[in-house]
Amino acid sequence: MIDIHLINQCTVEPEVDCLVIPAFEDALNEAAESPLLEKEDKSALSILSEKGNIDGKSNFYFPTPMSSYQNVMVIGLGKKADVTPAKYREAVGKAASTFQKMKKTHLLLEAAHTEGVLNVENFVEAIVLGQYSYDEFKNIPDDKKPITISEICVHVADSVDLTISQAQINLAQTKCESANWARDLANKPGNALTPSILAEEALSMAKEFDCEAYALGEKEMTELKMNSLLAVSQGSAEEAKMIVIKHTHPQATKTIALVGKGLTFDAGGISLKPSKGMEQMKFDMCGAAAALGAMRNVCIMKPAINIICVVPSSENLCSSTAVKPGDIVKAMNGKTIEIYNTDAEGRLILADAMAYTVDKYKPDMMVDLATLTGACITALGHHYAGLMTENDDMAKALTEAGDTVHERLWRLPLNDEMRELLKGNDADLCNIGPPYAGTITAGAFLSNFVGDTKWAHLDIAGTGWGMKGASYLNEKLGSGFGVRLLTRWILNEAE
Ligand code: BES
Ligand code: ZN
Ligand code: ZN
Repeated sequence: MIDIHLINQCTVEPEVDCLVIPAFEDALNEAAESPLLEKEDKSALSILSEKGNIDGKSNFYFPTPMSSYQNVMVIGLGKKADVTPAKYREAVGKAASTFQKMKKTHLLLEAAHTEGVLNVENFVEAIVLGQYSYDEFKNIPDDKKPITISEICVHVADSVDLTISQAQINLAQTKCESANWARDLANKPGNALTPSILAEEALSMAKEFDCEAYALGEKEMTELKMNSLLAVSQGSAEEAKMIVIKHTHPQATKTIALVGKGLTFDAGGISLKPSKGMEQMKFDMCGAAAALGAMRNVCIMKPAINIICVVPSSENLCSSTAVKPGDIVKAMNGKTIEIYNTDAEGRLILADAMAYTVDKYKPDMMVDLATLTGACITALGHHYAGLMTENDDMAKALTEAGDTVHERLWRLPLNDEMRELLKGNDADLCNIGPPYAGTITAGAFLSNFVGDTKWAHLDIAGTGWGMKGASYLNEKLGSGFGVRLLTRWILNEAE
């Protein structure tokens, strides 16, 4: 946890090792006039601005050895009228790498002159997400460990109510910590995160924040006739789990369900994947991580709405007990599925998880997240997640929530015409469509398991990890995509 605190007066604590000043290209003087700057540095900043070294477009870092704060980082934000939260996070994300490189640990942020224009929360988000690293299995000597910021002191305008703003900042930090918690799950290799371990992690999180939770094992799933999910797991020695976490609120008027694909490793099954890049399939539980990360926020914040989080988790391996192409299974809701391709397994485990959620909890709305199709990466790259829903209101609300936190969604069509493509030969459904529109047909398959529930499907195959377009997210790691989006959406729905 970073110690973040707001102040009204112009004091520089002795530990501070960098003063951070946001600047706009068309108002550079505002930055140079910060009351936190010592006299000589005010002049230095003015001269550097006149000479064009500081342009308010890109960041500029310079040592000020005679000052109490030792260094200054000017954050370049472009034109004042054009600044957005995304641009601010982006610039701060870049600054975060400089802080790390220069071993800065105690920041003093000047936020008085940007009151009403920039939001300190966005600064906090970019720092907390930006300094995330995943080093669980690395032997790193103490002196080589990544340096992280331990304190941020924020100088705000006199008009700011410190108590209210401090609470908002704390919340922003918490939300990003949940994203980082989800990223820790996502980054763990398959041997360190089996379905049973994922269940343990989820249940201990729920316990920590006093939420009800349970996990079903294969015995219970057999009793519930979840044969679609069990078919995926039957080729693995690891037991499948279905994790459920519940938040109920006495004043709630609606229930939302979050469902996340939790393949802790996807080798493809008998329809084995090529070996090149197969290690990346440890990330096939990013949907689960996102749903659980959002649920962590719910468990902490306890909003006035009922939330149910359901995570089906399994491995998809190749063995003598594995499900075979052509096998037919009957899902919990009675629909029969001809499994043409065992690598299209995510939809098989989600089918039973969603049917279970609808049957048992009757949510008003349901969202599922899944690293479901390679086709989604072909269509939308690593910048946008695919959104499929037949409900325009949900499409709008989710897209807006995503835009707010820069977890962007792009809607693809979903209708009866698409469902036509998934008729089985010898069963009600088959699990893959024709060799086109793969993301849409995957969504269309899932739509058979939601009944009348208002539902949206997010394909995060390209964004759950390896996400591009955000300087504060390491492209090689899990991104936590979905945690902040769902949290935002849930809080909007709870209002
Ligand atoms: N987990 C994969 C999808 C995936 C691929 C996610 C690459 C991230 C990166 C999924 O289970 C899968 O294998 N889908 C198949 C579906 C096909 C057999 C219809 C795919 O996308 O190739
Ligand atoms: Zn697969
Ligand atoms: Zn998969």
